[in-house]
Amino acid sequence: MDLEKLIREVAEEINKNKEVVAFTGAGISVESGIPAFRGSQGLWEKYDPEEYAYISVFLRNPAKVWKMLRDMFSIALQAKPNTAHLVLAEMEKKGYLKAIITQNVDGLHQEAGSQKVIELHGNGRFLVCLSCHNRVPFLREHLEIEPYPVCQTCQKALKPDVVFFGEPLPEEALNSAYALAKSCKIFLIVGTSGVVYPAAQIPYYAKSKGATIVEVNLWESSYTYKLTDFFLKGKAGEIFDKLSKYLF
Ligand code: OAD
Repeated sequence: MDLEKLIREVAEEINKNKEVVAFTGAGISVESGIPAFRGSQGLWEKYDPEEYAYISVFLRNPAKVWKMLRDMFSIALQAKPNTAHLVLAEMEKKGYLKAIITQNVDGLHQEAGSQKVIELHGNGRFLVCLSCHNRVPFLREHLEIEPYPVCQTCQKALKPDVVFFGEPLPEEALNSAYALAKSCKIFLIVGTSGVVYPAAQIPYYAKSKGATIVEVNLWESSYTYKLTDFFLKGKAGEIFDKLSKYLF
């Protein structure tokens, strides 16, 4: 079926059911200039996550991990929401969307105006001290501090308030995500490869509870052939731009 027709059908479903929950990944922020993690332009091509993204590595060698963080956040801290973030925020305002469950840490959903955002992997707009738990806004000035910014109270390395590999996901966020997946009628997966667990499990749960799965992705993901009812193939910004014309 051609894409335009599929988008119209999805818009009709959303209009009928107005109980949508979105589940977003790095792909939604690519058009804001933030590279995804996997694929040829991905962060993990440049920095092996085994070497840079585990909490054990940060604890042993924060200076090394801050090299990767500086690279990542020099882009993320100045990025602006794109059409996909903005349309999702509008969908919430107009009563179509209950919440967004995101794996992203870039804060762009909130900046776009979304109110109900469940952050499974934390929030990269803040830095936290692992020793005294002091939490401060992550400012661009922090990126200039070599070898890494430290806590003003105890002088220990500050870490972006995001989930590293080897750290548990915030329990409250995970519980909220499952409750939303259970109660929605349409589960809208946007720009995620669906390979990082436990987050990647949530769409399966939504499907098992009866949700229709709509997926927006530039390429087929691990969900496409197993789970997806409507696959909208393309750039998230372009797909949401078209979708918004049928919705609002
Ligand atoms: P990935 O980098 O694994 O996947 C990004 C997905 O976005 C891929 O399926 C791409 O095809 C798709 N994509 C790329 N550009 C797009 C565009 N313009 N429009 C729509 N889709 C596009 O990112 P995530 O699935 O978010 O976790 O990765 C999950 C987790 O792995 C991250 O939260 C992070 C990472 O390791 C932690 O750091 C704990």
